Amino acid sequence: MPTAPIIAPSILAADFANLEKEVRMINESDADWIHVDIMDGVFVPNISMGLPVVEAINRYAKKPLDVHLMIVQPERYVEAFLKAGAKIISVHVEACKHLHRNIQQIRDLGCQAGVAINPHTSITELENVIQDIDVVCLMSVNPGFGGQKFIENTYRKVADLKRMISESGSNALIEIDGGVNQTNARPLLEAGANVLVAGNFVFNSSNPKELIKGLKKH
Ligand code: DX5
Ligand code: ZN
Repeated sequence: MPTAPIIAPSILAADFANLEKEVRMINESDADWIHVDIMDGVFVPNISMGLPVVEAINRYAKKPLDVHLMIVQPERYVEAFLKAGAKIISVHVEACKHLHRNIQQIRDLGCQAGVAINPHTSITELENVIQDIDVVCLMSVNPGFGGQKFIENTYRKVADLKRMISESGSNALIEIDGGVNQTNARPLLEAGANVLVAGNFVFNSSNPKELIKGLKKH
């Protein structure tokens, strides 16, 4: 039996005026992680939330916070996000001058390390770090906004990445971030994805818990 996927609702699509209620909904659901998008208005053209909001989410969260840093020079903030409650921290390959050092920094602090790559970035960028990371966050939209259309080329990248991971003996999980829905979830998992991030698909639903259950059942 294939293992069930890890489901990570993206809090970016939640009602920010009711974060406690939204986090409690995730706690009660079959979701595994809470995906938290941090945008700085420099690496991406949008600003999302900062440390006090992550601390507030963490006050109620019973599931690990999966913090996706879409910021330049992420090494400046890794420790602060860890203190705010992050259990997994992903940095962008495009935002790191010294990616290997940044991964070590995250791991040395006792946190799981992820590396995110943009849709235009080749997975070959990961070849020399794949054994040192816990998660690859494959962006299936251009980072910066929720609710965008899924980029179909992602399927090919997932399959190629799966091959790279098994050939290298890495244990990295493949996380898909952006435009995930009921239609693309199955082919993504069949291609080798392990973690599905879902923002608008979950939070725009009238029954988010049922929807999460549906994603988990694939
Ligand atoms: C995009 C973010 C995603 C986003 C996903 O920059 O990294 O995590 O919240 O949202 P949906 O599922 O609505 O595309
Ligand atoms: Zn994200």
